Amino acid sequence: MLKKVVLTGIKPTGRVHIGNYIAAIKPALQLAQTQDYNPVYFIADYHGLTFIQNKEEFNHLSYGIAATWLALGLDPDRVTFYRQSDVPEIFELSWILACATPKGLMNRAHAYKAIVDKNEQTGVDPDIGVNMGLYTYPILMASDILLFQSDIVPVGKDQIQHVEIARDIAGSFNRTYGSTFKLPEYKVDEHTAVIPGLDGRKMSKSYNNTIPLFEPAETLKNLINHIKTDSTPPGEPKSPSDSSLFLIYKEFANSDQINKMREKYQHGIGWGEAKKELFLVMNSFLEEPRKKYNELMAAPERIDEILSKGAERARALAIPLLEEVKIKIGRYR
Ligand code: TRP
Repeated sequence: MLKKVVLTGIKPTGRVHIGNYIAAIKPALQLAQTQDYNPVYFIADYHGLTFIQNKEEFNHLSYGIAATWLALGLDPDRVTFYRQSDVPEIFELSWILACATPKGLMNRAHAYKAIVDKNEQTGVDPDIGVNMGLYTYPILMASDILLFQSDIVPVGKDQIQHVEIARDIAGSFNRTYGSTFKLPEYKVDEHTAVIPGLDGRKMSKSYNNTIPLFEPAETLKNLINHIKTDSTPPGEPKSPSDSSLFLIYKEFANSDQINKMREKYQHGIGWGEAKKELFLVMNSFLEEPRKKYNELMAAPERIDEILSKGAERARALAIPLLEEVKIKIGRYR
């Protein structure tokens, strides 16, 4: 039986933090290890371009995403791993799909609508700050997904609508030209906890409360010391499930360590002590990947080599389908 294609992308718009790791990267790496799927993971760099228009920043963030995946153990032999902009077929298909996409579908996309709503509230031109890349973002994402006949698209909740739009666009194309694209399904990991940030709210770049993954040990320790705790004094029992420290601890510790830590909470571990333990377990997990990340970032030609091999594999999959599409639309005599 043919393995199901599981495809996901990360756009380079900020430094990868432990919330990204726990919610997106960790489950995707686990999926890639199961052998049940054909994993296709990529760096959505041209999606990032809709937000990041500083040359150095764009370049650094793009390599950063690639190095992060590799440092955390992505095996490029098993995963088709590439940079979106190395696969020109995606952009050609994107245009063809744009012509099968009703404009109203884009008007209803959450990310675009949120900006328009905000502009309207502040009384400025509703389209201020909206470039056409941002407006048509869901079409490019549909192209990413449909060009590889993806079955499953692991995403965060905020991306569900985009996968639904990809299905709509596939349906629209299929109705006009005959069955061509598979209808993808999103996969949202309901079991992953919402990872709290330094201030206790959801860890998010937009709240400025993140713990970046590959900070030096000293900085990591410092950041952990800044995680907000309540005023329960040492010696008093604490509820692990209400503690940011414990929620993060759980993601990096083994089950034995987790059970022991749970007991320590019941026995009233002090917050200072809990922070120390969190640092130890996180740092021992991150030490090797951090080293690997820094090595890769210092040798971007090694990243390029891996990504260009990945792009070759991706194009070998993409080219035949794009040809089929071009025949269907009447591009050839
Ligand atoms: N839009 C996604 C995000 O912001 C990134 C992305 C681009 C993506 N293309 C994709 C995710 C295709 C899954 C499939 O997180």
